[in-house]
Amino acid sequence: MKTYRLWAAYYDRIFPFARSWGAVVREQLLDPLLPNCTTVCDLACGTGTTAMELAQLGLRVYAVDLSPTMCEITRRKVRRTRPPITVIQADMRSFRLPEPVDLITCEFDAINHVPHKQDLARVAHAAARALKPGGHFYFDANNLLAFQEVWPLTWRHELPGVVIVSHGRYDAERERAYNLAEFFIRHGKLWERHLERIEQVCWNQKEIRAALREAGFESVRAHDAARFFPPGSMIDRGHRTIYLARKNRAA
Ligand SMILES: C[S@@+](CC[C@H](N)C(=O)[O-])C[C@H]1O[C@@H](n2cnc3c(N)ncnc32)[C@H](O)[C@@H]1O
Repeated sequence: MKTYRLWAAYYDRIFPFARSWGAVVREQLLDPLLPNCTTVCDLACGTGTTAMELAQLGLRVYAVDLSPTMCEITRRKVRRTRPPITVIQADMRSFRLPEPVDLITCEFDAINHVPHKQDLARVAHAAARALKPGGHFYFDANNLLAFQEVWPLTWRHELPGVVIVSHGRYDAERERAYNLAEFFIRHGKLWERHLERIEQVCWNQKEIRAALREAGFESVRAHDAARFFPPGSMIDRGHRTIYLARKNRAA
């Protein structure tokens, strides 16, 4: 997989805002569940920040990501302080864990990254299989409004020796959005240009609820993410939804 190869290298420096946001939401929605958890999987773990934070709470963590670069960055962090984290390179549509877990987290619209609309059902089934009965699947998803209002904007990030310019577009017919990022990386006096494309699938809340129920989740709670963002941030009402689904206790 080529995607998240370049983004991976600069991810922690570009998206620190997502971290504080993720931690605030987790605190509000997951804190009541965590005392009953011993094992957790951070699905599409990216650079491993959430996995590290969960391990610091005393949980045994499986950190899963499809990108070899993301897995390597997470492994590097794990090697430094040796928290109880096992990194597994796998696809969220088919991943399997060595043991069932109490909780699966899948943050920062990672779930939208699958290639096909029907892949949502596969992710929901794989998550249900990985959970203990009564376990929870916690994730956030980009909604149509975010693809229409936020993705077409042009973004520019500057780091020492790197400039990244990205923009996106929503294709209503395919119900998919893409983001195309141009990376300008300085080598001495020269700048090298690289392109990286990320695609996401769009679902509505009804489709997400149906897929979760079909996979064996008995209760699904949905929260508009805007209430967790500081006023004036880019995330408005309707852009993103946070889901907390509980697997059937009898399963
Ligand atoms: C926006 S990043 C989110 C990373 C992390 N969850 C966070 O909160 O920072 C999306 C992640 O999904 C991963 N990803 C994309 N498709 C995937 C798939 N099919 N299975 C597992 N991981 C995938 C990417 O490699 C990337 O690390």
